[in-house]
Amino acid sequence: MKPIDENTVVLGIETSCDETAAAIVLGGSDIASSVVSSQIELHAAFGGVVPEVASRAHLDLLNPVVARAIVEAGVEESRIDAVACTVGPGLIGALLVGVSAAKALAYAWGVPFVAVNHLEAHLYAALLDDPSIEFPIVVLLVSGGHTMLVEMRAPGEYRLLGQTIDDAAGEAFDKVARFLGLGYPGGPAIETTARDGDPSAIRFPRAMRDAGLDFSFSGLKTSVMNYVRKHPDVATADVAASFQDAVVDVLVDKARRAAAEIDAKGIALGGGVAANGVLRAAMSAAAAADERRAYLPSREMCTDNAAMIAAAGWHRLRLDGPSPLDTGAIPNLRLVIPT
Ligand code: KG4
Ligand code: ZN
Repeated sequence: MKPIDENTVVLGIETSCDETAAAIVLGGSDIASSVVSSQIELHAAFGGVVPEVASRAHLDLLNPVVARAIVEAGVEESRIDAVACTVGPGLIGALLVGVSAAKALAYAWGVPFVAVNHLEAHLYAALLDDPSIEFPIVVLLVSGGHTMLVEMRAPGEYRLLGQTIDDAAGEAFDKVARFLGLGYPGGPAIETTARDGDPSAIRFPRAMRDAGLDFSFSGLKTSVMNYVRKHPDVATADVAASFQDAVVDVLVDKARRAAAEIDAKGIALGGGVAANGVLRAAMSAAAAADERRAYLPSREMCTDNAAMIAAAGWHRLRLDGPSPLDTGAIPNLRLVIPT
């Protein structure tokens, strides 16, 4: 196998949920192309992702998306050194489409296949925009399925500091948005509606605020529902703004405490909720107040994409070598925590 260095070209593939994505990344951080085809409109009518619909859409979209990523990158197929793909966590049918395609391409081209953990890839998103990052950092990973605080000491070296004990932050945004009739996906809908609201209108609970570095969002969601049922005339914008404020408050508070605990040089954000403008502003301000750097990946790198998969794949290839071709999709894959 060729050495893995700054010239190594990795094709990344992502099909774990409702985005069909492919990207070409050089040397683990130089993005030559990143194509994301969202299925949001397909699922919006159902108010959430329908797994079978997602798998079928991935089947239709994946080949053209991969072809476009290669054309946009302006590289010959023969220059691709490895194919990296999300193997989990995610929807089993959706994952299988990407994993099968990635293994077939790697086999046909005679290059390594690299299995990537979607959560680990979200951690690398911050490095993609700023490869000069100084370690250790705390990464607040906030997506539709996960909410965790991770200590990253170097690429590939991380430790779980805290996580949600029930709903993920993104899930809370999605459920509250659905309850308020704001549509899917809930995060952007709440953020837009909240712009016309007063974040201090309603004091929603900050759950587990003083209980270590774990999170809980299920009680907040119930509390929003109870409040709206009791006050049917309340302005939806005020509810959205106050809910968003409660989530951001807890996320920033715990990330800040985690950073102090490990004496981190900086705090990085990752995952779809990290696209939220209020969270980004609050995290920047908090990091600046503590004289730490804030690493905020671009919004495109926060939500699901394949550039982060290719980047994580490059690091995994360097650290562990290729993955076997009998690797399957692993819907419940966890973030492996080396001790
Ligand atoms: O990381 P991601 O794209 O997919 C998963 O791996 O889950 O995250 C999707 C989640 C959804 O729950 C969505 O509502 C949330 O990220 N999200 C946001 C925003 N944009 C996306 N949440 C709050 N504010 C946003 N602007
Ligand atoms: Zn994700």
